[in-house]
Amino acid sequence: MSKILITGGAGYIGSLAARKFLEDGYEVRVLDNFLYGSRDNLEQIRDDIEIFEGDIRNIEDTKKAVEGVDKVLHLAAISSIPLCSKDPDLAIDTNIKGTKNVLEACLDKNIEKILYANGAAGIYGKIVETPVTEKHPAKPVSSYGVTKYGGELFMSAYYETHGLPTITFRQSNVYGPSPGMKINSVIQIFVNKCLKNEKIEIFGSGNQIRNFIFIEDLIDAYKKALESNVKGEVFNVGGFENISINDLAELIVKVTGSNTEISHKEMNREEIENLGFKLSFEKAEKMFGFKPKHSLEEGIRKLVEYMKNG
Ligand SMILES: NC(=O)c1ccc[n+]([C@@H]2O[C@H](COP(=O)([O-])OP(=O)(O)OC[C@H]3O[C@@H](n4cnc5c(N)ncnc54)[C@H](O)[C@@H]3O)[C@@H](O)[C@H]2O)c1
Repeated sequence: MSKILITGGAGYIGSLAARKFLEDGYEVRVLDNFLYGSRDNLEQIRDDIEIFEGDIRNIEDTKKAVEGVDKVLHLAAISSIPLCSKDPDLAIDTNIKGTKNVLEACLDKNIEKILYANGAAGIYGKIVETPVTEKHPAKPVSSYGVTKYGGELFMSAYYETHGLPTITFRQSNVYGPSPGMKINSVIQIFVNKCLKNEKIEIFGSGNQIRNFIFIEDLIDAYKKALESNVKGEVFNVGGFENISINDLAELIVKVTGSNTEISHKEMNREEIENLGFKLSFEKAEKMFGFKPKHSLEEGIRKLVEYMKNG
């Protein structure tokens, strides 16, 4: 039986990943400092997994957590963009130094694979060519983007220097039900508004194109990549449909059957409307058979059911 460490396993993606890997026959250990994630998110599986309360900024905690595992899914991070901007030192310590600690702890431990979750939205900066492949220049413009990219560069450095079998995902916006789900991302916010028949407010023109991946499809992709022979690579991973925020709002109104009104609100003067870009997922498809199963509409239907019934 394979044993996996999920850092940040009490958070949004991690708490569902812990459950899915367990269902697939993995032994699961979670490392989390419970800054954002909570023990409640692991309540249903807590007797079947190991939970380590610890901090990736602390090398001893990290070494203990890595002991005896075969694979590592590294999700622990300061994932809030505003918090990274407000406290860049915390972002540096967690997203860069914490990631370096995870890699350092993996040295000489026969770890089969280490997968790091970076975001696609914050990394490419000004787009010079679409669809955006992994070869597109990276120029993050936020503290979140810079520090997550720093972690990614450490992944590559430990592969090149020490031969650690690392992989990085540059994943698009994640949505869908999970024990750790919060109403803090656009799809969850719009569904919540529709279910309460409250007005949806779109900032800017609504023509911004975005890409979303259903959380279960992302976790399937983690599993496929962790079980593949691929290493030392970076992959864009997302859903196959790109959609404008206007069309997304209309789709959610349709799926929920709501009478909600859609309105537009001006952006702050200093905010630049990022119109978004198309990502290429060809490399992930070719190298480890990445194939999301849910269309945006199917994923939103599952989310709506969950938010209606819990
Ligand atoms: N959710 C998305 O749309 C999205 C998109 C792209 C990339 N990502 C990346 O995926 C990963 C998981 O995202 P999420 O949405 O589940 O975030 P989340 O904030 O819900 O989960 C992160 C977890 O890490 C834990 N953590 C924070 N600092 C820690 C530390 N020093 N030591 C140990 N644990 C610590 C938090 O308590 C939390 O449980 C993050 O690395 C994030 O940057 C997320």
